[in-house]
Parts: sequence; structure tokens; C-alpha cells
Amino acid sequence: MASRLPALLSYIAGRVVDRMAGTRPVRSLARLRGRRAVQQREQVERSVQALLESVWTANALAAAAETTLIEDLGQARPLTLLAARAGLPTPIAEAVLDLLVALGFARRSGDSFEAAPGLRPFANSEGAAALRATLRAGLLQSRDFLDRAKAGDLDLGGWRHADPELIEAQGALSAAIAEAEMEKLALLPGLVPRLESSNAALLDVGAGAAALSVAFCRRFPRLRVVGLEPAPASLAIARQKIAEAGLTARIELRRQRIEDLRDRAAFDLAVVPQMFLSDAVVEPALRRVHGALRPGGWALVATMSGPGADRASALARLQNLLWGGHVRSGAELRALLARVGFAPLIMPRSGPGVRTICARRPPAPR
Ligand SMILES: C[S@@+](CC[C@H](N)C(=O)[O-])C[C@H]1O[C@@H](n2cnc3c(N)ncnc32)[C@H](O)[C@@H]1O
Repeated sequence: MASRLPALLSYIAGRVVDRMAGTRPVRSLARLRGRRAVQQREQVERSVQALLESVWTANALAAAAETTLIEDLGQARPLTLLAARAGLPTPIAEAVLDLLVALGFARRSGDSFEAAPGLRPFANSEGAAALRATLRAGLLQSRDFLDRAKAGDLDLGGWRHADPELIEAQGALSAAIAEAEMEKLALLPGLVPRLESSNAALLDVGAGAAALSVAFCRRFPRLRVVGLEPAPASLAIARQKIAEAGLTARIELRRQRIEDLRDRAAFDLAVVPQMFLSDAVVEPALRRVHGALRPGGWALVATMSGPGADRASALARLQNLLWGGHVRSGAELRALLARVGFAPLIMPRSGPGVRTICARRPPAPR
């Protein structure tokens, strides 16, 4: 009897509480759980809605960049003129422009629209082209990701896009980033005088559409480039772009992988987007780059993955995987570069997004 007393007391206490609450505990708990489940489900639905709004907004921005809307916002213009020039029905042009206003990208005064200060650099033909490339590259890749997921065709095989529009957009994006960052090369000891010298040489690993090679040749008129690109679709576009730029004599394209490179002490600078290289090849590839640089030469090694649990970090890891590069963090890459023999290493800020580690092949001892 003594051993059953606590259970009995607990039963009596439970009944008293039930009476006071006018309900049975099991049922009220179930109701509570049910309410919580509904709230959690509504939270997911709200998040999905917000994500779709972002997708639609990105597409509307892309539509504005694909037509003349963005570049025409360089000065205040009436809606009817903007719509006519863009070839859009006026109500659709108005809705897109209102969205730009809501984003803080444009201003509206009566029936007239113009770029807000932050959008002004893009509100001309060159700036709009850069914005168009950014949006095209991102949206076309995300569409391809969905198509491949639906077809059960996702793997770790890496970047193998053959869509010329996507390859060119990614190239334009690379070139825009390279041009924006070019001035920072002056911070790397000895590099700019070498790139300006008569035997200056650049190794462009994963040349893609050769946009980066072309951008470097324009900035450094005596520079010669070797671009490595294993993908035939990209190579064909690169050849055409190099010819159009009149740079056939200065840019040599090779259908070759970096891990197969045999050149020794031949380059002053190597651009290495290592997020396209699998775990299996990254170390041999970096050893080839190290050997291919002249002593004192520099490698610009791009990295994008990190260990964070936040959305941007998780997304960067997903994109990195789709590009074939697995998910090496900046810290792991730094250790690898040091092991291969690069010193010093100049690390970028931490955090998500593409960052560049500047790694030097030490100069020869005097
Ligand atoms: C997206 S592109 C970079 C864009 C390029 N910088 C431009 O200006 O167009 C990266 C390229 O790396 C190439 N790639 C992948 N693995 C490679 C490897 N092991 N060696 C050399 N290139 C590789 C891919 O084919 C892809 O074209």
C-alpha cells in the first residue's frame, strides 16, 4: 500500500486540477500541441511566401536589366517613354518600376522615374550590362539546379554548363569583379611592375569565356596569358571572345586541366578559382600552380565555403558543391597553401561570399 501512495496522490491531484480547469489534461495537452503545430506550419508557409517574393523580385530586376528600363533611369523620364523604349505594356513597366522604388533602387515623382543614388552607377549601358550578367548568371544556374533536381541528375561532377548565355554571363561577372579589384594588385609586393614588364605572364585557371584573361590584357598591355579550360563549350566561346577582342596573339587557350599543367617557373600571376576543384585534385593542382609560378609570383586563390550554420553559409556550401569544389573552408585552404609552399598568405575578411587569398611563391634567396 505504501508503495502505491504517491501514485494515488498524484491521481487525486490530477483530477482536482482537471475539475478546476474544466477539462481533461490529455485533451488540453493535445489541443496545445495541435495549436503549436498549426503555428509552426504557418511559419513555414510565411517563409516560403517570403522566399518566393525574393525570387519574383530578382526576376523583375532581371527583366528591368534585360530591357532598357535600368539604363534609362540615369535621368528622370516619364513612365510612358520608359515603357515604350523597353517594349513593355505601360502597366507592367509601372509595376516593375514601383518594385524598384520599393527596393530603394529608384525614385518616383508623379509619373516620372529615376535611379536612386545607389543604382546610378548601373543606370547606363555598361553598368546595366554588369547587373544583367550578375542576374543572368545567378538565375540561370538556379534554374539549372532545379531542372537537374527534378530529373534526378544532381551529382558532384562540378561545373559543366554548356548554355552560351550562362557561360558568357559568368564571364562578364568574372571580368567585372576582376576590373573592380584590379587596383588592389598594387598591395601585393612586386606584382604590378612584373605585370607591366615585357615578359609578363598570367595563368588563368578555368578560363571559361576568357573574360578575365581579356580584362587583364586590357589593363596590362604587355601581358601574355595562358588560359586553361577543359570544357569544349566554354573553349569555343573563349576563342570567339578572344578573337573579337583582337587578343589572339596574346592569349593562348589550352584544353587542359590545372592538375595536368607541366609549365615550370613561367608565370608572374595565377588566378585560381579553387572552388571548382574537387578534394581529390586540389592539392596536386595547387602544387602545379606553385611550380608554374616564377619565384616571387603570386596566386589569387578564390574561396567561398565556411562552416557557419546561417543561411548564407549553407547556401555558399551548396553552390560550392554544385561547382565541383566540395566545401573547403578558408582556414583549411590556408593550411593547404602553406603545406604546398606558399608564403606569405594574405587572408581576406571572413564570412560568406567569394573571397580571395593572395598566396606568394617565395622569391629566390639572393
Ligand atoms: C565558371 S569558370 C570561371 C569563369 C572565367 N574566369 C571567365 O572569365 O569566364 C570556371 C571554369 O573552371 C573550369 N574547370 C573546372 N575544373 C577545372 C580544372 N581541373 N582545371 C581547369 N579548369 C577547370 C570549368 O570548366 C569552368 O569553365
